[in-house]
Amino acid sequence: MSISLEKYLAPPDFSLGDVRDPRVFELDYIPRKIYERKELPQIMELISLYLKGSRIPCIIWGERGSGKTTTVKAILRELPNALRRVEGYKEVADSVKTVYVSAREKPTSYQIYQFLTGMKGGIPASVMKERLKEEKKMILAVDEADLLKDDDLLYFIPRETSIYLILLSRDIRWFTNLDEAVKSSLLPKHVRFNPYTAEEMDEILTMRAKEGLNYFDPTVVSALAGIVVRDADSDTRVGIRSLYWLGIKRSWNENALMDTVKESIKEVEDFSIRMMNNEELVVLYLSIKNKQTNRAYEALPPKFKMSKASFLTKLNRLQEMGLINLIKVSQGRIHTIAVQPLLRHPEIVEEEIEARGLLGD
Ligand SMILES: Nc1ncnc2c1ncn2[C@@H]1O[C@H](COP(=O)(O)OP(=O)(O)OP(=O)(O)O)[C@@H](O)[C@H]1O
Ligand SMILES: [Mg+2]
Repeated sequence: MSISLEKYLAPPDFSLGDVRDPRVFELDYIPRKIYERKELPQIMELISLYLKGSRIPCIIWGERGSGKTTTVKAILRELPNALRRVEGYKEVADSVKTVYVSAREKPTSYQIYQFLTGMKGGIPASVMKERLKEEKKMILAVDEADLLKDDDLLYFIPRETSIYLILLSRDIRWFTNLDEAVKSSLLPKHVRFNPYTAEEMDEILTMRAKEGLNYFDPTVVSALAGIVVRDADSDTRVGIRSLYWLGIKRSWNENALMDTVKESIKEVEDFSIRMMNNEELVVLYLSIKNKQTNRAYEALPPKFKMSKASFLTKLNRLQEMGLINLIKVSQGRIHTIAVQPLLRHPEIVEEEIEARGLLGD
């Protein structure tokens, strides 16, 4: 059978407005040049120490969109080149390995060992761990470390290998709640990324506009930066998506800004929900539906095998993402936690649950 699609194609001269390169505005794009956070020297100092043989792991904390992933990926990408350019480091440049892994994609130590060693499934962890002990100079960044389901690697890597560990997380409570033995094996330096100020946001958005647009109005970009800091918790993603839509629509006037920002908040919310793992998604759905954490936990199908504690950790994470508010309610001596949804478009959660077939039989 044939269908004619010609009539549905946008005209060949269809225009992306002022957008020169749409990829520059995708949410996982790492720009050619990043804005350097003032904490960058601290991280580089720890890396230099490591290269000289002294190892203090590093944990980077910061809200969503504060540049954790971008900063660390840029460091890993640029480090070998930088080393090659500095006398005295040239020898290490070729031997140092830099590896990025996200616990969202690889949530168990076993999966991360597999990734690091390239060994296929079925190999015992002990064999892979022996291999990792042979690594001389490796920098391993584990993003969204609070999603790790076990802490084997947090204990093993600092104690028994020479690998340098950089952990990234939004949730400061995650580290506090770790096992004492793991904490004392890590003894990390904590680096905190505060939310961007309006000036910093302006600089980041201006850099991005220059990279991906043919034209933009700097006054509108500054106004946008202010709105993102004030109304979108400084989430840079919202600013970047807004820039894209302003460029597409060539809508460089301040009056239309608010609508564009609202659209972009929705778009980013949509994106975060679709990126969630199954467990997070189910916890979000049940907590919104049941409006109270105890009842939500009771409604969790047994196949998810989740302890109450880990259920509550997930709820905290959702609160951190700005998707729900948890409110303590006391009636006499009975205390419960009510869930207040903050999502602009909660129907997306249900759609996604259905699309993945998570709660059906
Ligand atoms: N310093 C920066 N320079 C250039 N772009 C940045 C910078 N910080 C953030 N961005 C941009 O903002 C967006 C969000 O940044 P990033 O993903 O690094 O945040 P994050 O702290 O890892 O957030 P999350 O906790 O949600 O993972 C990305 O698209 C990134 O390109
Ligand atoms: Mg990140």
